[in-house]
Amino acid sequence: MKMTPSQEILHLSLLMQEELLQRMSPARYAAKMGLEPYPWQSHLMDSRKKRKLVNGARQGGKSTTVAVLPAWMAHFKPGSLSIVAAAVEKQAWEDMNKIKAFVSKDPCLIVKRASDELLEFENGSRILVVPATERSARGWSAPALILLDEASRIPDPVYTSGIRPMLTHNPLCEVLAISTPNGREGFFARAWESDRWEKYEVRAPWDIVETTWELVPALPEREFVAERLRRGILGSYSPRHKLLAEQTENLLEMGARMYRQEYLCEFVETEGAAFRYSDIDAMMGNQVEGLDTDTTAVLDELEALVFDE
Ligand SMILES: Nc1ncnc2c1ncn2[C@@H]1O[C@H](COP(=O)(O)OP(=O)(O)O)[C@@H](O)[C@H]1O
Ligand SMILES: [Mg+2]
Repeated sequence: MKMTPSQEILHLSLLMQEELLQRMSPARYAAKMGLEPYPWQSHLMDSRKKRKLVNGARQGGKSTTVAVLPAWMAHFKPGSLSIVAAAVEKQAWEDMNKIKAFVSKDPCLIVKRASDELLEFENGSRILVVPATERSARGWSAPALILLDEASRIPDPVYTSGIRPMLTHNPLCEVLAISTPNGREGFFARAWESDRWEKYEVRAPWDIVETTWELVPALPEREFVAERLRRGILGSYSPRHKLLAEQTENLLEMGARMYRQEYLCEFVETEGAAFRYSDIDAMMGNQVEGLDTDTTAVLDELEALVFDE
């Protein structure tokens, strides 16, 4: 049916309004592309804080967020570069597949060139997806967005010599590090203790009864959220981990220590550690982080650079 001129104007203005809303809200953009984000994903996607950390349960929807944000950036910031650095090659490959699948839903993102590592669009935007090594992102300057997937598994030297150069003189760059915990050492664990990041914790809504290896409901969500807020953390229970039978199976399969790490998002000690960090904390009046002095100095320097630019 042919539209009258005034209908055409109305139609166009509605389209422009929708485009504007999506420009302001990556979560709305995701929904329009067919992915209805969970509340925590929405909050994270729409937050314009420059430094964000997500400590989230396995299979909670972390990498899905990693697919949406570079696509949004490519669409709404023509000519921009987004870099996704994943802890291992397989993860990078999976992230790239997720990004390609998501991008294919956006008719405005016309792919000019595609490889296993790089997507280049007609509007000049690029998305680079690489395994995080000291050299992987070298030569790429001034990204608008850096996403670190399974960030706790990225070795510290990669942060200092691979990520840091991309932040030098690039104050507008957004950094999002997303992960399950992996012991209590390294950049991710340390950043979790810092109040300079916007922090999200997305865990399964259960607690373990150690004596019987049973799962029982954790604190009611409102109390959990309030408790975390007091510590400067945006907490939520993962909507994907509500089934008791499924979670009990995970617990029995992986054991309590791993379940605490992978689903309850706890920074548990690395297996085989000769000491407990909590014991050392107690001995030292809560000062020790379990990092040697060199690493501590390097990470302080990195944090200073990230935040003081
Ligand atoms: N908002 C959502 N709605 C429905 N399914 C989702 C959503 N976010 C993630 N998923 C699904 O959850 C599963 C795990 O997601 P993924 O992002 O790979 O988790 P993680 O990286 O935390 O392990 C995938 O099957 C993904 O499609
Ligand atoms: Mg993932």
